[in-house]
Amino acid sequence: MFRADLLEGKRILITGGGTGLGKAMGRRYLELGAELFICGRREEVLAETAKEHRAATGGRVDFAACDIRDPEAVERMIEAGFAVGPIDILVNNAAGNFLAKAEDVSHRALDAVIGIVLHGAAYCTLACGKRWIASGRRGVVLSIVTTYAWTGSGYVLPSAMAKAGVLAMTQSLAVEWGPKGIRTVAIAPGPFPTEGAWSRLAPRPDMARELETRNPLGRPGEHIELANLAAFLVSDEAGYINGDVVTIDGGEWLKGAGQFSWAGRLTEAEWRAMRPKKK
Ligand code: HXC
Ligand code: NAP
Repeated sequence: MFRADLLEGKRILITGGGTGLGKAMGRRYLELGAELFICGRREEVLAETAKEHRAATGGRVDFAACDIRDPEAVERMIEAGFAVGPIDILVNNAAGNFLAKAEDVSHRALDAVIGIVLHGAAYCTLACGKRWIASGRRGVVLSIVTTYAWTGSGYVLPSAMAKAGVLAMTQSLAVEWGPKGIRTVAIAPGPFPTEGAWSRLAPRPDMARELETRNPLGRPGEHIELANLAAFLVSDEAGYINGDVVTIDGGEWLKGAGQFSWAGRLTEAEWRAMRPKKK
């Protein structure tokens, strides 16, 4: 689908790049010629992913353990990343989430999720942006949000609040930093099964199945489908896309929003019975 040198010469930081979708995007970026810098809290997970990536692609992968809720730790991590070579692209992918009734969410639980998703993404974005602006470099920030960033969602209140904030950051900076050669874009994924998300958000097998298949295409997304979109959006080929969010969910949220989407469950006999009788 892409030229093998699409991302040649690009150095890409992926937060939460050791697992799940961050790992899938990282593999695709390496295949397309990029250098990778990944961070997350668990050093052993990052080391294992870096090893697998190098073995599979022969590409350069650096990593640093960092809790992105800590702004000083983020500064140190990004300083170390730039010291190896200027970062060209930031992917705000790290997240925290869990299914809980809002009335059961403690202030520490709220802070844990908003700290990772909103504050962490903002710290990383500002740390990269300041360096790009100071040195007159171009840059791209890709943030992974969710389809409920616009609509909100029951039972994931902290995540919904935080993802809405990341969407606002994407749109605000597109206008403010566009003139400085920095693009900010986002992806809103539908269901892409990962251990991290499914272990926290799909408490029963039937719920996991429903989450994966209720969209009009009747299947979950494949990681490579998201990784290809993420490669296009950060590449120079997407140079005129700024401040927008691309949804990749098989049509899931539209189906949920359409007032009569449930009518797909009617039987043929029921459809026939509703037709006007021939005179
Ligand atoms: C209620 C919970 C909870 C739960 C944790 N807490 N899990 N409250 N229900 N299920 C509370 C704890 O009791 C504690 O509050 C507070 O949250 C902090 O918990 P810790 O375990 O100390 O925090 P920490 O170790 O920092 O872990 C952060 C985390 C955890 C967010 C809670 O889940 C995590 O590390 N997640 C990272 C990976 C992840 O979530 N991936 C999924 C992303 S999927 P008290 O008051 O008791 O001290 C996604 C999109 C999904 O974002 C869309 C799918 C279609
Ligand atoms: P995941 O595997 O759990 O990824 C989350 C990553 O974030 C982990 O690598 C985790 O590593 C890292 N992380 C969490 N807290 C961190 C912190 N404080 N500091 C640094 N890193 C931290 O889940 P995923 O499904 O791949 O999710 C990736 C992204 O896609 C998230 O933004 C998520 O909201 C979004 N998304 C996913 C889906 C889906 O269907 N999977 C749908 C919509 C949106 P450590 O635990 O080692 O820190």
